[in-house]
Amino acid sequence: MDYIAHFEQNTTIILLAAGESRRFCHNNFPKKQWLRVGEIPLWQIVVQKFYSFGFKNIILTVSKNEAVYIRNTFLDCFIVEGGDTRTQSILQALETIKTPLVLISDIARWNVQRSIIEELFRVYASHQDIVCIAPALRVSDTIVLQESLNKTVLPREQCLAVQTPQLSQTAALKEVLKKGEFSDESTAMLALGRDVKYIQGSPLLHKITSQDDLYTLCDLKKPSQQVLIGNGLDIHAFEEGKAMRLCGVDINSPVGFKAHSDGDVGLHAIIDAILGAIGAGDIGEWFPDTDEQYQNIDSVLLLKDVLEFVRNIGFVIRNIDLTIIAQTPKIGPYKQQIRERLAELFNLALSCINIKATTGEGVGFIGRQEGVCVMSSVSVCFFDWSEYLKRKGNI
Ligand code: CTP
Ligand code: MG
Repeated sequence: MDYIAHFEQNTTIILLAAGESRRFCHNNFPKKQWLRVGEIPLWQIVVQKFYSFGFKNIILTVSKNEAVYIRNTFLDCFIVEGGDTRTQSILQALETIKTPLVLISDIARWNVQRSIIEELFRVYASHQDIVCIAPALRVSDTIVLQESLNKTVLPREQCLAVQTPQLSQTAALKEVLKKGEFSDESTAMLALGRDVKYIQGSPLLHKITSQDDLYTLCDLKKPSQQVLIGNGLDIHAFEEGKAMRLCGVDINSPVGFKAHSDGDVGLHAIIDAILGAIGAGDIGEWFPDTDEQYQNIDSVLLLKDVLEFVRNIGFVIRNIDLTIIAQTPKIGPYKQQIRERLAELFNLALSCINIKATTGEGVGFIGRQEGVCVMSSVSVCFFDWSEYLKRKGNI
């Protein structure tokens, strides 16, 4: 019997990708769910897997600040904004579902096998009173409760390492998850006295938690070597009595730039170039000038926000080129300072940053000394996790 075909209409798949990957993201690594296979993020590989298994009701939970980008960029996916914890993310997704069964899987356990899901449904077919079924592995290492007073050794033959995907009855799950925070659905059910059934798990379901778990990607296609280019342009008029900042550098000038923010026309052009390269819209969509919180804001903070997003979703900025068109102020004396400031902000070598300046030959609004225009180009590539595996001798 094809159990997936039999239960598919009664089941919603929830794929969890709303975590912060805190144990994974250091040394400028992206979030684990955004590691790229070719150009495709890991979370999308998993979504495609579940479609290929024959499921149609699939929900992906994502971080709040990635939701707009994902919605606009990956059209074939129904997304729900997750919460601060795994439990909260599930509850958010459960709000939207109507099926009696829910199958929940961590994106971080990306290598889901059809056979595991078949087995979950096969067991459910003969135990329809059971509220949760989960894959689990027997533990072969010695297990020690390190933080207990006497470093207690646990009886490993009585221990199980519980994995995902887990199949749950929706109504029961909604009820128990509202009662606290749990590391998974099966634990929530147990904590509230409900019975859980286990099926044989698989080492292939190993979760990516830290960078050491990257070996699980060994056989996957390496990240694309493609280079993406973006350009940005910004113009600001001068305003009396405001301090002038250009590319995060204070400029000695009797006027500043008229703007809702600090008016750093250089950083705005660079931000637009970055957003262009990664396909994430423009600065106005990100930081609307109607929003009070951006009144007089230091544009370095806006740039830092964008840089964090770029890193999180698996991109690396390679170089920046800038052309500042200004009759006044004179840019020459500041060129090197700007270059050094950008190198620091981007954590790039000076050789990857270039600043050009021109006066515009006295023509138009720039020539009349009414304002300044800045143009920028940025190149970006995908974060290459295979370099890490090579360093560690995995490939
Ligand atoms: N998850 C989620 N929403 C959260 C927290 C976690 O959807 N608020 C998801 C993660 O994206 C991951 C899965 O739950 O696929 C398992 O969680 P975990 O491995 O702990 O991932 P993170 O919470 O992202 O990592 P860390 O705990 O290291 O920050
Ligand atoms: Mg976590």
